[in-house]
Amino acid sequence: MSVCIHIEHLSKTFTKDKRSITALGDFSLDISDGEFVCLLGPSGCGKTTALRIVAGLEKGTYGTVQVHGKKVSSAGPGRGMVFQEFALFPWRTVRKNIEFGLEMKGVPEQERVRISSKFIELVGLKGFEDSPPSELSGGMKQRVGIARALANEPEVLLMDEPFGALDAQTRNLMQKELLRIWAATGKTILFVTHSVDEAVFLADKIVVMTARPGKVREIIPVELQRPRDRTSREFIAVRGKVLTELDEEFEIAQARERSKE
Ligand SMILES: Nc1ncnc2c1ncn2[C@@H]1O[C@H](COP(=O)(O)OP(=O)(O)OP(=O)(O)O)[C@@H](O)[C@H]1O
Ligand SMILES: [Mg+2]
Repeated sequence: MSVCIHIEHLSKTFTKDKRSITALGDFSLDISDGEFVCLLGPSGCGKTTALRIVAGLEKGTYGTVQVHGKKVSSAGPGRGMVFQEFALFPWRTVRKNIEFGLEMKGVPEQERVRISSKFIELVGLKGFEDSPPSELSGGMKQRVGIARALANEPEVLLMDEPFGALDAQTRNLMQKELLRIWAATGKTILFVTHSVDEAVFLADKIVVMTARPGKVREIIPVELQRPRDRTSREFIAVRGKVLTELDEEFEIAQARERSKE
């Protein structure tokens, strides 16, 4: 399979008022076309930073990010971002939220309606086209977020804890829905989460990051058939392995903090 996202020796240092923080240090990762990759790591290890750099919303200090061999230097429609806090326009209807990027590109109205209708159907929002976000549940809002990202026909979908604000039942449902949408569209997905269970349910491979400055600590392939059974022995074994990696990393980070005191 060909490489979709190529991240090489990426680092990022934020400097403000003579103080600097290195969020990412030598982060390298390859993601294949159509692959579903979950990124896990201690809070503050640079997951959002990595995603924002891949999206082109932020620039790395060193290193490169390429998507299909092309260097990422600015934000573009080729990389769709889905945020935890939904980030919808409250004054726009569901349809108008989904059409936002298309309007920006100057896509004619008839074509916009055709495209938004397709994705409204895909994410299961038929009948809610004219509702404002205030009339939607959390799960429905996130469906709008996913449809809005997909409407621009991105090569990759970048998702930053997209289900973090949902209750457990809705979250499980949205995970299944996302897998259905992923199978239907064949998109490459880079998905940040704090939930080990979610990562094992979704991913082809799980990337465990080190504490800040974040780099790849371990890549754990998840070779379980879908749909996955969260109660199966195999599922629990993978979950255990990921948890052990994360716990070790957390302890290393704590020991490092203590040695600074
Ligand atoms: N714009 C910024 N200016 C200064 N420092 C920043 C900026 N963005 C992030 N940081 C710092 O970079 C580090 C990594 O932040 P980031 O948000 O990428 O972590 P994260 O892994 O997404 O954390 P979480 O799991 O809590 O969401 C943190 O120490 C954070 O304070
Ligand atoms: Mg984050």
